Amino acid sequence: MKKICIVGASGKLGQYMVRQCLERGDEVVAVCRERSVPKLAAFEGRIRVVPGATDNRDVIREAVAGCDGVLVVLVPWGVQQYSTGTAQAVLDYAEPDARLVFSCGWHISRDGKDVYSRLLRFQVVVGGWIGRVLRVGDVNDQVEACRRVFASHRRWTVVRGSDLEEGESQGLPVWSHHVGDPILASNVTRRVDYARFMVAALENDELIQQAPAIVGCQTPSALAHLREPAAAG
Ligand SMILES: NC(=O)c1ccc[n+]([C@@H]2O[C@H](COP(=O)([O-])OP(=O)(O)OC[C@H]3O[C@@H](n4cnc5c(N)ncnc54)[C@H](OP(=O)(O)O)[C@@H]3O)[C@@H](O)[C@H]2O)c1
Repeated sequence: MKKICIVGASGKLGQYMVRQCLERGDEVVAVCRERSVPKLAAFEGRIRVVPGATDNRDVIREAVAGCDGVLVVLVPWGVQQYSTGTAQAVLDYAEPDARLVFSCGWHISRDGKDVYSRLLRFQVVVGGWIGRVLRVGDVNDQVEACRRVFASHRRWTVVRGSDLEEGESQGLPVWSHHVGDPILASNVTRRVDYARFMVAALENDELIQQAPAIVGCQTPSALAHLREPAAAG
């Protein structure tokens, strides 16, 4: 049994991760906003909830104490550097050897070698602009949060999600180092499987200090890669 902290546990991705960690027999500490605690009612008595904003350093310090792993849902809400504050608090307060696994989208690039479609670039530019104007979110906040994670010497993994869809699990997603690699072309992953990849990363040392970009294992591009790895890239 391991002790796992899930930061942002009340969201869709977070709840999948809570369920999967409990199924594995982990002890779970969940962090979510006070108003969202009722969303975790289904897990009452089986998890410990630390209510509060995920960028509240006191909340994170309390929640990650003694945890072997921390799963962090990074979402750039508002214009107060919410993601950056969340990531920094986890980097500062997690146990020295803890596995830290962060979620984000394909738009985050670790080394600038990702190749993006025009559509994705358009979505990031226009979506980012609208978010900033309406003050609902700032995509650059997630970029800065990940930059800090990439620069740290911690045992981190940043899991870069494709577009997401709901539905039954199809199995552990496949991944590649760079967006634009043919295996990722289908650009869709079941949300439950995104969670599965995050949880599995806790035990996968090959993913330490890596930023895998993922895609569903049953998507056409993933299957093409399995059939003809060389041709598919
Ligand atoms: N959606 C996509 O298509 C997509 C694609 C690729 C990658 N991703 C990545 O996947 C992760 C989660 O995605 P998701 O779509 O599944 O979302 P989600 O799990 O529903 O997570 C949303 C999170 O944001 C929190 N939140 C919502 N409104 C907030 C506010 N105003 N202030 C502070 N926190 C707020 C939620 O907490 P409450 O429960 O308290 O509201 C929840 O923890 C993110 O890291 C995202 O970058 C998503």
